[in-house]
Parts: sequence; C-alpha cells; structure tokens
Amino acid sequence: MKFVFATNNQHKLNEVREIVGEWAEIVSLSDIDCHDDIPETSDTLEGNALQKARYIKEHYGWDCFADDTGLEVEALNNAPGVYSARYAGPGHDSEANMRKLLAEMEGKENRKARFRTVIALLVDGKEYIFEGIVQGTIIREKRGNGGFGYDPIFQPDGFTETFAEMGEEAKNRVSHRARAVRRLIDFLSTYVPSV
Ligand code: IMP
Repeated sequence: MKFVFATNNQHKLNEVREIVGEWAEIVSLSDIDCHDDIPETSDTLEGNALQKARYIKEHYGWDCFADDTGLEVEALNNAPGVYSARYAGPGHDSEANMRKLLAEMEGKENRKARFRTVIALLVDGKEYIFEGIVQGTIIREKRGNGGFGYDPIFQPDGFTETFAEMGEEAKNRVSHRARAVRRLIDFLSTYVPSV
C-alpha cells in the first residue's frame, strides 16, 4: 500500500516510517512535488488535520493522511495546544517556544502535560480521525539533544528521561504520534476498499 503523509518534517516522516515498517510505503509532500504552504487555520487539532488532508485530496488527488499535534499543559488551560508550533510568535523556533513555556510555568506546582496527536485519513471519499495521547510532566530545565520541538522539557509518565534523552526508538514506542499511527494502521489493516 502507498499513502501520502501530508508533511515534509523529516523527523515525523522517520518516526512514522519506523512505526509503519514494511507494511506500507509512506511518501511525503515533496515526493509528490507538493511545495505549497498548506493552510492550517483551524483552532482545533482535528480541524487542522482534516484541512491538510482535504487540501491534498482536492489539489493532488491522492488519498492521504495528515496529522496535527499539540502540547497541552494543564496549568495553562491546555495551552499551547493547537498553537504549539508558533507559541513564541510567528517565525520563532523551538528554543524560543520552550523558553516561553518555561517562563509561563514559573511558580506553577502542577506541571502535568500531554502531547496529543490527531490524524485525519482520507480514503475512498471518507474521512476518519485517530487520536494518540501521551501524558507527562514539564520539567524545569531542558535535558537531552534528541528529538525535536518540546522534547527536551517533556518527560513522559513512567520514565526518568525526557523525550530528547530517550532516543528515537524508545520515543516511538510510547509517543503520542506512535499511538495515533498504530490506530491508523490497525484501521487500515482491516480496511476493505469500496469498489
Ligand atoms: P505538528 O502539528 O505536528 O507540526 O506539531 C506542532 C508543534 O508541536 C511542533 O512544531 C512542535 O513544536 C510540537 N511537537 C509536535 N510533535 C512533537 C514531538 O513529538 N515532540 C516535541 N514537540 C512536538
């Protein structure tokens, strides 16, 4: 099987390809020659994931899946959530986002947070949504050099390392994206295409 994964983020592609394994071929946006700035204007993860998947179907004709992820911090009323990528403002990077989050968390005792991934799948003219969640804690100072985004300040429950310290393989076993992708694969592995 072959699917377009509506991303050009190499980290995400590697993670998803690793989880999917031999089971299906996953091609990226650049593999289908899509270099568009796909709109993500919804105020929910579900809305953004659907918007991206629909765009690919409409403009390129491919069945595909798209994801959107947010870091939801309990003490911040689930911020940054859908705005995780641009928390410190447009054009800012992960370092600035983490600095802002740590500043917002100063003096807060409740450091519970979760990563939530939503995947929207478009296949045979139908839309499906899959969700993956990992619970954890926002630590006080960055640790580790692996991963991306907020990984250095997120410690998943049941571990003493941050996502950035765990290495890709260990992260892939428990991550929000891995959980959502596994649900996607479970669904597709029993899926009977309509004719
Ligand atoms: P996206 O919708 O998957 O691009 O995620 C939005 C933002 O959430 C990214 O820009 C990252 O800052 C953050 N993010 C998403 N997934 C992860 C992850 O696995 N680790 C750390 N940060 C992540």
